[in-house]
Amino acid sequence: MSLLERAEKSLSYHFDQLVSPQTPPRLAAAMRHAVFSSGARVRPQLCTAVALACGDDAPGLSDAMGSAIELMHCASLVHDDMPAFDNADTRRGQPTVHKAFGEPLALLTGDALIVLAYQVLAHAGAAQPQRLAALIRNLSAGVGVPSGIVAGQAWECEVRADLSEYQRAKTGALFVAATCGGAMAAGADPQPWMALGNYLGEAYQVADDIRDVMGHAQALGKPVGQDALHGRPSVAQSLGLAGAVVYFQGLMDKAVDGIPACGARDLLSQVVRRESERLVPTSMCEAVGQPYPHLRAANALVSRSAQPSGNAVA
Ligand code: IPE
Ligand code: IPE
Ligand code: MG
Ligand code: MG
Repeated sequence: MSLLERAEKSLSYHFDQLVSPQTPPRLAAAMRHAVFSSGARVRPQLCTAVALACGDDAPGLSDAMGSAIELMHCASLVHDDMPAFDNADTRRGQPTVHKAFGEPLALLTGDALIVLAYQVLAHAGAAQPQRLAALIRNLSAGVGVPSGIVAGQAWECEVRADLSEYQRAKTGALFVAATCGGAMAAGADPQPWMALGNYLGEAYQVADDIRDVMGHAQALGKPVGQDALHGRPSVAQSLGLAGAVVYFQGLMDKAVDGIPACGARDLLSQVVRRESERLVPTSMCEAVGQPYPHLRAANALVSRSAQPSGNAVA
């Protein structure tokens, strides 16, 4: 079974187990709409890949960890799209949850998916209780404060913020939770897997910033031009497109370098390289005309903190 098939199967299994027919029907439909759409499922696949690299001696638990992470991600997208945040009409090629079901149900869908993530872990963790507390801590770190998704989104409400810290919290932290969670679910030390999650997660948000400028709404399944529209500075804005592409490539190189020595190193490197091409294809790099320029200068620029305008993040 492919990593993607494993991720989908686990999500369906846990969703059907826990979202019972007693659930208010429109809420259940909205939750289904949010989860079972054309998401790339990158985070659960990453979690499973790391679990496999660590022996995957409890596949039910690593699947549950991957599903919990994807459910948190789906919840964050539902809330991110709402009028109070990015006010987006489409996500994954379909109407956003608040467009399809209204704002009250969108708010509750996000809430329910966050709780569902913990229900999934509690459900599967009953067979491995000695690993459960650490998995819950790991998931919470990727989502809450001080530096998970919630913190990342909250930096948008501050007058001043560091771009790199904002990106790491908003997106990177859940990737770290995915790599570390995969290791922990397999009973392995998560520490060696932090670098991969960190670099890949930051690269992912940088790619999102680039695609927000260079991508097409139809292909991405969500609106583009949002960062400029909402005055949210992005790496594409702070470094320019060519600089952002260089920065992205540097982060992907670091992600590959960060894969610990293990039997699955070559396979994981291939997965990262393939993901890199999917996110920012060679044609995009060529379009900005500078495939391998001055990485160090770009790195120095992006970590510089500056005074933003409005509620922008610098
Ligand atoms: C989109 O994440 C939001 C970001 C954090 C960049 P993905 O690009 O993984 O979105 P889906 O899950 O495939 O829809
Ligand atoms: C979304 O960030 C990341 C979340 C934590 C939800 P963005 O607002 O930049 O991502 P898209 O472009 O809507 O997917
Ligand atoms: Mg946003
Ligand atoms: Mg958004």
